Amino acid sequence: MTKTIRFNAFEMNCVGHQSPGLWRHPRDRSWQYKDLEYWTDLAKLLETGFFDSIFIADVIGYYDVYKGNLDNALLQGVQIPVNDPLQLANPIALATNHLGIGITASTSFEHPYTFARRLSTADHHTKGRIGWNIVTSYLESGAKNVGQGGLRSHDNRYDVASEYLEVVYKLFEGSWEEGAVVRDKERGIFADPTKIHEVGHKGKYFDVPGYHLCEPSPQRTPVLFQAGASNAGKDVAAGHAECVFISTPLKDATRAYVADIRQRAAAQGRDPKKLLVYAMATIIVDETDAKARAKYEEYVKYASYDGALVLMSGWTGIDFGHYKPADTVQQRSHRRRTPVRRPEDLDDRGAGTVGWYWRHGAALCRLALYDRRYPAGMGRGYRHRRVQPRLCTGARNLRRRDRLCGAGTSEARRLCHRLSRRNAA
Ligand SMILES: Cc1cc2nc3c(=O)[nH]c(=O)nc-3n(C[C@H](O)[C@H](O)[C@H](O)COP(=O)(O)O)c2cc1C
Repeated sequence: MTKTIRFNAFEMNCVGHQSPGLWRHPRDRSWQYKDLEYWTDLAKLLETGFFDSIFIADVIGYYDVYKGNLDNALLQGVQIPVNDPLQLANPIALATNHLGIGITASTSFEHPYTFARRLSTADHHTKGRIGWNIVTSYLESGAKNVGQGGLRSHDNRYDVASEYLEVVYKLFEGSWEEGAVVRDKERGIFADPTKIHEVGHKGKYFDVPGYHLCEPSPQRTPVLFQAGASNAGKDVAAGHAECVFISTPLKDATRAYVADIRQRAAAQGRDPKKLLVYAMATIIVDETDAKARAKYEEYVKYASYDGALVLMSGWTGIDFGHYKPADTVQQRSHRRRTPVRRPEDLDDRGAGTVGWYWRHGAALCRLALYDRRYPAGMGRGYRHRRVQPRLCTGARNLRRRDRLCGAGTSEARRLCHRLSRRNAA
């Protein structure tokens, strides 16, 4: 039986993304992130290679946890400077024919009403090729700079995200009926007011009484990505996402995550097989294994140790500037009784489970190249040990979404085609 392998290129509108230091490599082009040609060249290459999509990560805020300041992030260009990802959608769409375009946007900062318009606009302009990576954000600096004083608690951010999604579904799916835009020149009717409705949302976090500003875009709701790793995050992913992003370092952990997320999706009344799971990997290719290995070793020489610590400190909220390279840090598992392994127990095939000990000096050099052995997941949740089961709030939202979308609408939008039209091309 043949299997399909799907690729989703992971990028960011900045120099560093997740390979700090690699910008110094002679062949690096990431410093050209400010040029549209950089993005259109890359997009064309990906389309030629039958990638499903290009996916652009984003953060609002900067990584100032390491050593309590921003210096190392600036010195190494670690996700700062960083440009707006959504503005890349149009040029990429113009340069390609069927590549999906995934854009990251946070539910913690922008109001869903204005965001829904920006996303519908992008869906129109890309002719239905836009995807949205729903993130709740983890950088305090972002929250402070938009006047929130600081981030909401981790699980509260997911509660906000659930209501945010409810609002945007209502706007995308429930405001303008099919056929609302008439464009009847003879009768002088552009749109039929009887087919355009106020969404009437009054919730805990958002009040959106009125009409969506855009006429229905090709997909209405774009392809939804999510990358939750905590219970709250996985529930939101299982309830809403069509594509789930995971960053698990080992096969066992990947298998466990996939089984868990599918089981959560089934518990929320969804067909678990419809979820596409993309596992993160940096793939280094060459004609032979030896040449690829040599390339890897060459790249490692450019990895920035401080840059990797900047990222790790920002993701976890722990200032790794307090530790020495030889210190051993224990990553605590989310699960009780999960065996915890030490680095010497890990072989090259990466036997191990969700949690293990790692010597942060060595592990962080690998992180800089996105080696699979870097600690699983990220987010401030890693600071806390969360073992309490959490009420599954996603099912309610999913039912609402299905009501809003109308029977069969989501079925009609076949995910494969939404992601990439390569099958039809
Ligand atoms: C592959 C991958 C890509 C991610 N991209 C982003 C991103 O672009 N922006 C962001 O704020 N968070 C991003 N995250 C973080 C997740 O949204 C999430 O916060 C993290 O996985 C921790 O999960 P939790 O919040 O459920 O604990 C990403 C996570 C993964 C695994």
